[in-house]
Amino acid sequence: MTSQPAAQVDTAQVDTGAFITDAWYVAAWPDEVTRAPLRRILLNRPVLLYRRRDGVAVALADRCSHRFVPLSLGHIEDDDVVCCYHGLRFGPDGRCVHNPHGDGAIPRAAHLPAYPLVERFGALWIWLGEGAADPARIPDFAILGDRARFASVCGVMHVAANYQLITDNLLDLSHAQYLHPGLRVADPVRLRHETRQEGDTVWSFFWRDEGVGNGLMRLLGWPEGRRGNSRAHMRWDPPSLLLLDVGIAPLADDDAPGIDAPSAHLLTPETATTTHYFWSFMRNTGRDDTALDARIRALGVQAFVGEDKPVIEAQQDNLRGADIMAMNPVLLAPDAAGTRARRIIAARLAAG
Ligand code: FES
Ligand SMILES: [Fe+2]
Repeated sequence: MTSQPAAQVDTAQVDTGAFITDAWYVAAWPDEVTRAPLRRILLNRPVLLYRRRDGVAVALADRCSHRFVPLSLGHIEDDDVVCCYHGLRFGPDGRCVHNPHGDGAIPRAAHLPAYPLVERFGALWIWLGEGAADPARIPDFAILGDRARFASVCGVMHVAANYQLITDNLLDLSHAQYLHPGLRVADPVRLRHETRQEGDTVWSFFWRDEGVGNGLMRLLGWPEGRRGNSRAHMRWDPPSLLLLDVGIAPLADDDAPGIDAPSAHLLTPETATTTHYFWSFMRNTGRDDTALDARIRALGVQAFVGEDKPVIEAQQDNLRGADIMAMNPVLLAPDAAGTRARRIIAARLAAG
């Protein structure tokens, strides 16, 4: 890992309508995909998700090759999907397996795209690109499945904004001081920030030494008024997969247990101006406390849905269709990580 100085940035312009397709994105949390058809627009493509009888989840184009009706309006029969309109039937590999019309011959063009889908780290990941779909290219989110150490609550929210505006938000957590009363800290003077980059992975580190814990830490059991060393370290991997290491550690002369509350923020573009935001909050305290689950969920909903989402959506609306980087935004010190991420995306898109 190399440490780099902050914000020697340019304003690389990005076509926000273009997506990196040779990449893994989260399509759904596993429990969202059942024997009933689930339709989701991912990277501007209609995708049908369902499970075969053996439980394996599959992803097909959600657009019948006949009249382009969503197959998700149809039904699942055995391992196949049957179109609601004229009855074409497709297998989980996308092959058309039954044509009830004419002599029953199946036109080659009837077959549908089937997309690689893997269940890993407690999420369902989809590959929509042309390149080889190697699951080893999914960044390490093993922490998501570490039930021995962490309890977790997860969800998905829909945000009417380009995914890169959300990435900007997550890589610059200085906004918490202004936007999130429940996460505000008492003495922001003690905040230190640093951006680092290794290959195409970007980190945005915030430290706060010898401060009292914020509202989240107190909710997780950190005593009121006790001082500790807090951290909020965001890791970003392209296109938009973020892991946040948040916690507080006791001071050297304190043997109190520390609190670790990592969270995953997995952004999948729906369109150029809308995003599926999959989130998971983990914690190493109160692991069997379902009441705490509910309080964590409420805090997350308050922060994301109640506070971040309205601002980011208003920001998207205020751009009136323009790309923010084409509008010469003022760049402040904490923008360094987000700007690095944007430059990596721009380079990947330019490379095709
Ligand atoms: S649109 Fe699907 S069978 Fe006609
Ligand atoms: Fe936020």
